[in-house]
Amino acid sequence: MQLNNNKILITGGGSGIGLGLSERFLNEGNTVIICGRRADVLAEVKAQYPAVITFTCDLELESGRMALYEWVRAEHNDLNVLINNAGVQKWVDVADDHFYENAKQEIAINIEAPLHLIFLFLKLNSLTTIINVSSGLSYVPLVKVPVYSATKSFMRSFTTSIQKTLAARNIEVIEMIPPALNTDLGGKGLHDAYPPVSEFIDSIFQQLKNGDNKLTFGMSAMMAKASADDLQNVFNRMNP
Ligand SMILES: NC(=O)c1ccc[n+]([C@@H]2O[C@H](COP(=O)([O-])OP(=O)(O)OC[C@H]3O[C@@H](n4cnc5c(N)ncnc54)[C@H](OP(=O)(O)O)[C@@H]3O)[C@@H](O)[C@H]2O)c1
Repeated sequence: MQLNNNKILITGGGSGIGLGLSERFLNEGNTVIICGRRADVLAEVKAQYPAVITFTCDLELESGRMALYEWVRAEHNDLNVLINNAGVQKWVDVADDHFYENAKQEIAINIEAPLHLIFLFLKLNSLTTIINVSSGLSYVPLVKVPVYSATKSFMRSFTTSIQKTLAARNIEVIEMIPPALNTDLGGKGLHDAYPPVSEFIDSIFQQLKNGDNKLTFGMSAMMAKASADDLQNVFNRMNP
């Protein structure tokens, strides 16, 4: 993908990996639009980076996704890059009282929202690039986040399919596969021991410059190349 002069929507661009992407794409000379549920978080980013454009919405809801798309179509119909980054991770057990309720929300945000947004944003003639954020847990599940891990396997599989089908329309589809990184995903503190987002972003941008369409880092780079036996060993280590 060309790395400057794009107009890019980054869902969940106000924090964590999304914020790292926002900062870097702004520095590279792009117009960046970010969205999320927390207006105060978006306002803080806007205060630091006045050029950033913000939109508050809840992507769990079909109405939230429609509102985002209608606003982009009306105000930014030259948008050419969609980055499906927003996601949630829930530490749940299938026997928990609120398991099904939590699972539905996780599936709506991690799967339904990116699929719906892709369907909608393909209607923009300007669209050239879609980036979907999956996870190293798409290769090997962490059993404490069983629905999350499965949503990311879904996104890996779906992204691989549309990489092929959308090539016919000259739309590039890229899968970004972060390993565990230090963000607030799943709740504050859970990811403190992991590498900083900045190291991941540096590596991702180098891979984008190289024209790669499966972007990995650290543990996810290892898992992308691992044999079935290696993956079984990782599973055993991660889930003692
Ligand atoms: N950090 C890791 O270890 C890691 C590893 C692999 C993959 N990932 C993936 O990377 C992506 C970004 O996660 P992160 O680590 O940067 O965590 P994060 O800081 O919690 O970021 C998640 C972002 O998604 C937004 N979001 C969540 N639900 C939303 C909703 N219903 N509507 C609109 N926006 C919503 C959040 O904003 P609001 O809360 O304001 O809505 C937030 O900005 C996720 O897809 C995650 O699965 C992360």
